Amino acid sequence: MDQDVKPKRIAFFGPPGSGKGTQAKKFAESLNLPHISTGDILRRIQDDTSNPLSQEVAAVMGRGELVSDDLVNRLVADRLTQADCENGYILDGYPRKLAQAEYLDSITQLNLAILIDASDAAIVDRMSGRRVCKNGHTYHIVYNPPKIDAICDVCGEPLYIRPDDKPETVLARLGTYHAETDAILNRYEDKGILAKVDGEPGVDEVYEQIMEKIKVAGFSA
Ligand code: AP5
Repeated sequence: MDQDVKPKRIAFFGPPGSGKGTQAKKFAESLNLPHISTGDILRRIQDDTSNPLSQEVAAVMGRGELVSDDLVNRLVADRLTQADCENGYILDGYPRKLAQAEYLDSITQLNLAILIDASDAAIVDRMSGRRVCKNGHTYHIVYNPPKIDAICDVCGEPLYIRPDDKPETVLARLGTYHAETDAILNRYEDKGILAKVDGEPGVDEVYEQIMEKIKVAGFSA
């Protein structure tokens, strides 16, 4: 690890569809940090039918519920021990329950928690237009369209609607978020590391708000 550089251990929080993944990818690039999305890791397990956990993970995600803490904690712990996390990381979608936050505190210390806030109404509107490719690149048919219709700009793979973006599953995921994740934000507020931004303006404006918080935290891009 570079001894002169303070490790950037950042986590993005926010309801489903608030833009965590969109912004986490951008900041991973700007800050040269690995982007660790538990949703992406779980979708890879779900899609790998040779993985014994595939069906169970698909069923839980399809209901808009949370996968077991035990599994998610193990996946994150394994990932954080990789060499590219030495100077920090960007966590996206983890922790999202008190038990996960407590586990994370036992293995590492976050130094910035960014909450991207958005109303439930804005979320439901956004999710109906989200399109993704199998490699996790994300678009919106109105707010962030691909250059060629239904094709990923980055890898050329076809774009599709995520199975858990059906309106009834989105409402279930919002319910899970408010029941489980709202509560752990107080934990980061009490530690003095929570920074809130408004997730409802466009992608570039949200990026600028987050960049400001990152500078205030003493991290430079
Ligand atoms: P996960 O993949 O983490 O889903 P999520 O938290 O519900 O968040 P999303 O990925 O849906 O949205 P996002 O905030 O990243 O928004 P995005 O940038 O895509 O988790 C999925 C499932 O996995 C969970 O339900 C659970 O089952 C399981 N899981 C994951 N982590 C777990 C954990 N820790 N414990 C247990 N289970 C876990 O943006 C959304 C759309 O809006 C896109 O189309 C985008 O282009 C567009 N957009 C983004 N920003 C803007 C903007 N500013 N203006 C207009 N449009 C925008």
